[in-house]
Amino acid sequence: MGKIIYNGELKDRSAIQIDVEDRGYQFGDGVYEVIRVYNGKLFAADMHLNRLMDSAKLIQLKVPFTVAEIKERTKELITAENLEYGIVYMQLTRGTSPRNHAFPIGEVDPVFVAYTKDMPYTGSKSGVKAVTVEDIRWLRCNIKSLNLLGNIMAKQEAVEAGCDEAIQHRDGTVTEGSSSNVAIIVKGTLKTHPATNLILNGITRQILLKLCNDKGISYVEEPFTLSDMMDADEVLYTSTGVEITPITAIDGQLIGDGKAGSITLQLQKLFTQEIERQCGSLTE
Ligand code: PDD
Repeated sequence: MGKIIYNGELKDRSAIQIDVEDRGYQFGDGVYEVIRVYNGKLFAADMHLNRLMDSAKLIQLKVPFTVAEIKERTKELITAENLEYGIVYMQLTRGTSPRNHAFPIGEVDPVFVAYTKDMPYTGSKSGVKAVTVEDIRWLRCNIKSLNLLGNIMAKQEAVEAGCDEAIQHRDGTVTEGSSSNVAIIVKGTLKTHPATNLILNGITRQILLKLCNDKGISYVEEPFTLSDMMDADEVLYTSTGVEITPITAIDGQLIGDGKAGSITLQLQKLFTQEIERQCGSLTE
């Protein structure tokens, strides 16, 4: 785990220095992506890289590379690291400049870094526990910003309650998890918050909805309340890291019979097939 892409070049991680006045370090002024690697291959890379471009645009940050260039460098990184199963983390900041809230004046080069982390493929996960928390974040959650304090505070509440995820809500309307999207299944229909400014439009979420569409599983992108969720037949959450995972207890109360539901299990299988379609057969 010694290599890093730094502004387009593959380097030794120990040779890189990030300035204390990097705006990502001081203000969280930047955007990021996390892409999963299975079998040494990037999963859903174009969707992730296009979202990186979209996030950058929304904060008026010029990306000095094309999607194709980032993908090429990322593949070189994976090869150099011999990465079979893991993630690539990448971030782009507005660069280094004397501390001042407003954007730097004149040409300041953005700083791009990407590195890998091992993450074994564990297969489909069985149910996890979650807590509900108030969504205290800003109103641009559609941007994959480096500013994650609200998300971090929420995740910490989950950890302190012995749970895997915190499900956030605004005035009783469920938005998303601290680092995931959330969906419920009621009478055979999957329901998830629409892709507005109040959630990150997860790549896993988008693939989930496409799978529903392709396989005739009925779904709607509509807000739902905390009580809709507690009364749902199934609850699940999705992200690059957890893929599709059932949530079987929330705030200490069982969802349905407290076991992973049949539609969630079907979606997990379909998702595994999609990974294998893109990256080849998986080994646990
Ligand atoms: N988080 N919502 C939030 C707030 C997230 O942070 C994430 C992912 C998602 C799911 O997005 P995707 O399916 O594209 O991974 C939704 C990443 C993995 C992270 O911060 O590590």
